[in-house]
Amino acid sequence: STTYGAISAQAVDVNSPVSVPSDINWDNLGFGLVHTDYMYVMKCALGEGFTKGELVPFGNIEINPSAGVLNYGQGLFEGLKAYRKEDGNVLLFRPEENAKRMISGAERMCMPSPSVDQFMQAVKATVLANERWVPPPGKGSLYIRPLLMGSGSVLGLAPAPEYTFLVYVSPVGNYFKEGLSPINLVVETEMHRATPGGTGGVKTIGNYAAVLKAQGAAKAKGYSDVLYLDSTHNKYLEEVSSCNIFVVKGNTISTPDIKGTILPGITRKSIIDVARDQGFEVFEKPVTVDELLDADEVFCTGTAVVVSPVGSITYLGKKVTYGSSVGLVSQQLHSGLTSLQMGLADDKKGWIVQL
Ligand code: COI
Repeated sequence: STTYGAISAQAVDVNSPVSVPSDINWDNLGFGLVHTDYMYVMKCALGEGFTKGELVPFGNIEINPSAGVLNYGQGLFEGLKAYRKEDGNVLLFRPEENAKRMISGAERMCMPSPSVDQFMQAVKATVLANERWVPPPGKGSLYIRPLLMGSGSVLGLAPAPEYTFLVYVSPVGNYFKEGLSPINLVVETEMHRATPGGTGGVKTIGNYAAVLKAQGAAKAKGYSDVLYLDSTHNKYLEEVSSCNIFVVKGNTISTPDIKGTILPGITRKSIIDVARDQGFEVFEKPVTVDELLDADEVFCTGTAVVVSPVGSITYLGKKVTYGSSVGLVSQQLHSGLTSLQMGLADDKKGWIVQL
């Protein structure tokens, strides 16, 4: 039988008849945690590198109160999705890209990382073991959340002596309740998400805790989320709390260039390719907040949000609107991307890994 890390597929019964969870409403999935069956865990000591992992029942983990991740935020996460095709097969979208991003993030955070191969094996094993939780075609996806953390004890500030790589999954639907209806953003002018030389360009857990205050204030005022500006000039677009941003003007699409303060999104990079294939001219460049004023469309991209059209952006109390339903370009890019992810279009780029 196929082995995944330390244990065999049989040991977790992935070959037993697939039973569909009875208490789940596939038509009503949002973006919240659904407890699934198994998670993957692999540990190693600092300086030794990962070797073998195992699937264990999904559940709480035990961690020392002085773990590096709890005290000093030495942690990274990833996000990717598995889709079920009409023929029942399960597809992953560009998983090696997540593996590579975890490796570069781990380097920045002084952590050992699983190799691309170890990451891939872990993700595949976790999805296979939880296969019954992959939603039916068209009903959503299985969100895969790899974590890497300093799980060993430290008291003085230093890299933790032990690391844990963990993968868990949850079936998900739309990230924003709006779905493909436009979201409303507000530009944050006082708080910043990242600074030059900091960790904005890697997927470290602290980047996400840092946006909660601005996000909470925005939500309390009825906005869907926050758009951040650069911390040096306070005028260039960076990203939204959980996704990258794109601005459409005619046949031109612009998105902030990757310069260390912006998360290099895999959906961002994929949309750039899809848009170029569709005949758009795409620029990765500094984009000023003023460029929002005369844009035709604005949309966000991310693994969780996919392609999310923006209906309005409020900046210094002034609201710019882009329409109350999804724009043509956003719609076209959304379907270009999702038809690849769901296996409905020919995978000419080799982005799909079938389980
Ligand atoms: C993702 O889109 O996968 C992310 O990691 C963003 C997260 C805040 C949901």
